[in-house]
Amino acid sequence: METTPFQFTNNTPLSLSPNFILPEENRPILSEVFSSASIPTIDLNNHDIDDLVSKISQACEKYGFFQIINHGVPKELCQRVLAVVTEFFQLPPEERAQFLTTDHRKLVKVFNYYQKVEGQGKVLMWGETFTHPWHPTENFTHFLPTNPPQYREVFTEYAREIGGLMDRLLSLMSQGLGLEKDCLKRKLGERPATYTQANYYPPCPDPELTMGLPAHNDISALVVLLQMEGVSGLQVVIDGKWVPVEPVPDAFVVNIADQMQVLSNGRYKSVLHRAVTNNRLARLSLPMFYAPNNDTVIGPIEDLIDEVHPPMYRNYSYKEYMDEFYRQEGARRRVKEAFELQH
Ligand code: OGA
Ligand code: NI
Repeated sequence: METTPFQFTNNTPLSLSPNFILPEENRPILSEVFSSASIPTIDLNNHDIDDLVSKISQACEKYGFFQIINHGVPKELCQRVLAVVTEFFQLPPEERAQFLTTDHRKLVKVFNYYQKVEGQGKVLMWGETFTHPWHPTENFTHFLPTNPPQYREVFTEYAREIGGLMDRLLSLMSQGLGLEKDCLKRKLGERPATYTQANYYPPCPDPELTMGLPAHNDISALVVLLQMEGVSGLQVVIDGKWVPVEPVPDAFVVNIADQMQVLSNGRYKSVLHRAVTNNRLARLSLPMFYAPNNDTVIGPIEDLIDEVHPPMYRNYSYKEYMDEFYRQEGARRRVKEAFELQH
């Protein structure tokens, strides 16, 4: 059986073997990370709906990323989900290895990200990822780990809460584009592909030589990410500079992904981001993704197209998009660019 390159259970520090070391031009320059700018934090407990819609749409247009507080998901549930996922990564590697695969068609899997580097082959990223669907819960619960024993129950409860939150965000984002409340959700289609991707980054002996996740845009439509308190690592580009997304207590990080950029005809931005490592503490992040299913046709929404705003992308099925994504595997993703229209 294949084994994972990481053993998180013993307390000896992991060593940075050559297959983790990126060539100089791909390394993060941490001294150039700019912490005086930040993405906005939006309070969802705001009864002035016009004000809330305008704050959200401005954040989606300018940053593509924001944090939300007072979102209604119980704090205690967020803590429990982080705890069971952390426990999963701390199981003996044989336990996690049963989910290890490089077959991207598998819905439930443990894998390691890599970058393809000229002359060096695949360079592994400093982290391990566990992915699985999250909706509708009754269709997938039986695929989830039985160890730790609370995983299924806690995750199912968490998925239900995040589903409700995503519906609310999609409605606010639709209104922010001047569309009917249910427009974005309808355009994203029936039977959406929803999956989570728990990322576990162990402490790294030299964070400037490697990366947790290389710079990328998310390929889905909408992302709600929960990160541990007290350990930063996620960074986004603001005005051409890398800026950290510092964990805000009891907040979620929300970001626009590629399908939403295309649907909104470029108004909402799917922004480049990455995860860097640190040499002191392990970090866990838990993004929940909402994407169309393979048969759904995605393209700029007609109401957002006029003479001043011609369509920026051609229509495509999500299957076509994903084929292009897999074709680019291991390289810096430029997926939606393949569907751009020139004017
Ligand atoms: C991702 C991602 C960032 C993080 O999983 O797509 O961007 O903070 N994760 O781990
Ligand atoms: Ni991402």
